[in-house]
Amino acid sequence: MIVTTKNLFKVAYGNYAIGAYNINNLEQAMGLFRGNVESKAPFIIQISKGARSYTHKKMLEGLILSANEVFPEAIFAVHLDHGDEETCYDCINSGFYSSVMIDASHEPFDKNIEITKRVVDAAHAKGIVVEAELGMLGGVEEHVSVDEANAKLTDPRQAREFVERSGCDSLAVAIGTSHGAFKFSGTQGLHFDVLAEIQKELPGFPLVMHGSSSVPQEEVARINAAGGNLAGAKGVDDNQFAKAATLGVTKINIDTDGRLVWTRVHREYFRDHPDQFDLRPVGKIFMGEYAKFIADKNIKLGSAGSLDEVRKIVSK
Ligand code: G3H
Ligand code: 13P
Ligand code: ZN
Repeated sequence: MIVTTKNLFKVAYGNYAIGAYNINNLEQAMGLFRGNVESKAPFIIQISKGARSYTHKKMLEGLILSANEVFPEAIFAVHLDHGDEETCYDCINSGFYSSVMIDASHEPFDKNIEITKRVVDAAHAKGIVVEAELGMLGGVEEHVSVDEANAKLTDPRQAREFVERSGCDSLAVAIGTSHGAFKFSGTQGLHFDVLAEIQKELPGFPLVMHGSSSVPQEEVARINAAGGNLAGAKGVDDNQFAKAATLGVTKINIDTDGRLVWTRVHREYFRDHPDQFDLRPVGKIFMGEYAKFIADKNIKLGSAGSLDEVRKIVSK
């Protein structure tokens, strides 16, 4: 069942965070649905602009609508990740997305508000919710690349004004995470002090943490042992998700970790089966491993086991 994030966030707020997972293809879709259904968790499917153009934007819609039939017990939102204004309107008008992110975080404060408000007005007119971003994460996003020195933590004092003036439904905050597999040069971690200040300014308002892959060291070691070169890759400690949830984080974005599972499975498989060229045996292994990864991650997020409670609320 496709729902908006609004109800999901209502149930989750203060207790746990919902996993927001990026997908690009069939195998990821299958693993994602299986992992969430098996762990009884609501979830958010994230589709980036790059994912929409990987084959054709309609392909992922078709995959997800089919998965919705194959897994009738699944409860999830379909969300545009890091949208620009034009892509937001395309998704809002598609009749498929239940949520969009307008990412104008690279613009000055007032301009960010102005763009976000335009998208909010268009989305709300169709019952679609909007995530916006204030502050700037390090790492590479589709249309912006930000080095760590230029990343900007969210200013808690600006956060309330931003939400009030833009009308957005949730806010992505920069509290020290970054996109990709190489986070935290040195020993930086999450700035819980900043998060706590933001929550104080915006009590009860859903916050979003991007760049939250944990880049498991075992995964990195296996990829490197199978011919990869990801020396120095590092992520967020997922034991910190629970604390983030108590401070108002209701959505946690994870993409890179899924790519690492894919890379490990495929590198090891073809290393160990040099005579193989059928894509299905390795695809099957990946789907199983990705499902396992999702189910484990949902335990860290605290969303595992909450599906029945969520079903009661969204079916009202
Ligand atoms: O934040 C970016 C997401 O990980 C999506 O990545 O733009 O390469 O699809 P992508
Ligand atoms: P990671 O690169 O840490 O997986 O972050 C993904 C993300 O924030 C998608 O919006
Ligand atoms: Zn992101």
